[in-house]
Amino acid sequence: MLFPDYRPRRLRQSEAFRRMIRETVLSADDFILPLFAIGGKDVKNPIPSMPGHCQLSTEHLVKTAKEAYELGIPAVILFGIPETKNALATAAYSKDGIVQKAVSELKSKVPDLAVITDVCLCQYTDHGHCGVVEGHIIDNDATLDLLARTALSHAKAGADMVAPSDMMDGRVTEIRNVLDENNFSHVPIMSYAAKYCSAYYGPFRQAADSAPKFGDRRTYQMDPANALEAIREVTMDVEEGADIIMIKPALPYLDIICRVRQEIDLPVAAYNVSGEYAMIKAAEEKGWLDGKRAMMEMLTAIKRAGADMILTYFAMDAAKELRRS
Ligand code: PBG
Ligand code: ZN
Repeated sequence: MLFPDYRPRRLRQSEAFRRMIRETVLSADDFILPLFAIGGKDVKNPIPSMPGHCQLSTEHLVKTAKEAYELGIPAVILFGIPETKNALATAAYSKDGIVQKAVSELKSKVPDLAVITDVCLCQYTDHGHCGVVEGHIIDNDATLDLLARTALSHAKAGADMVAPSDMMDGRVTEIRNVLDENNFSHVPIMSYAAKYCSAYYGPFRQAADSAPKFGDRRTYQMDPANALEAIREVTMDVEEGADIIMIKPALPYLDIICRVRQEIDLPVAAYNVSGEYAMIKAAEEKGWLDGKRAMMEMLTAIKRAGADMILTYFAMDAAKELRRS
């Protein structure tokens, strides 16, 4: 089709036409809101690098979760900030740990909201790594049991879905087995399948107090340069029994989302991470761009690339924006 026979502008001339030919439409159904649970009463600690987000004690957590649900958001993902940290991350799988308590409270107060729990050790280890440390080496196989215990304790507390974010090899199999053996075969696993070693996690580590005290996460998280390896990682998790696979971060990895969407027939989630959120908020504060438009454009791009759901700190803002339009 060539000019002047074809004029693409014909179908752009009115909002009605633009709506008629729009290919990607965001909905609150697409969003999963990350929340940070902390102990204590009436605690609401603002996270400086994530304006609008706070570490929340249970009553505030419930209030925010309710608000999210009322805005049409179907699910939240919970991260815990424990009181104690140690080498074996015992607070991650203790029966009355922060996430375990928050989950049961959320399920009793907002029962229809799906509660997903992040399963990892880094907020709970004194060294801040996602696995058990031997010397300065992360011991993959010694970590698996602790991750499985953590996932099981979340399921026992009432979690609707568990989401391992550690990037140890073999953890999906381990978690699936332990859940099945304990009558939780109905609890799905959303695996952080292709999780890159990214600078965009910076603000989150401030929010969750989970920065590694030595070294970095390069021996377990993926090299940003690799795409074929992402397919191998994702395929592995599918074969191990993952129900939903996640790509993380989202915006700098749209090519990965697109490829995975084409090769895999399971639902694909994308994590629009803390740094992606912080960039827009910071630029907006400086008056350098229109924050709302940049947010909607970013989320639309992630969905257009092939994500079926988006974990995003923009969930509430975007759901409000969708109500307005
Ligand atoms: C920890 C974890 C991280 C995120 C989710 N779970 C950070 C990390 O790997 O250091 C990042 C989330 C974000 O940046 O929004 N396993
Ligand atoms: Zn971790």
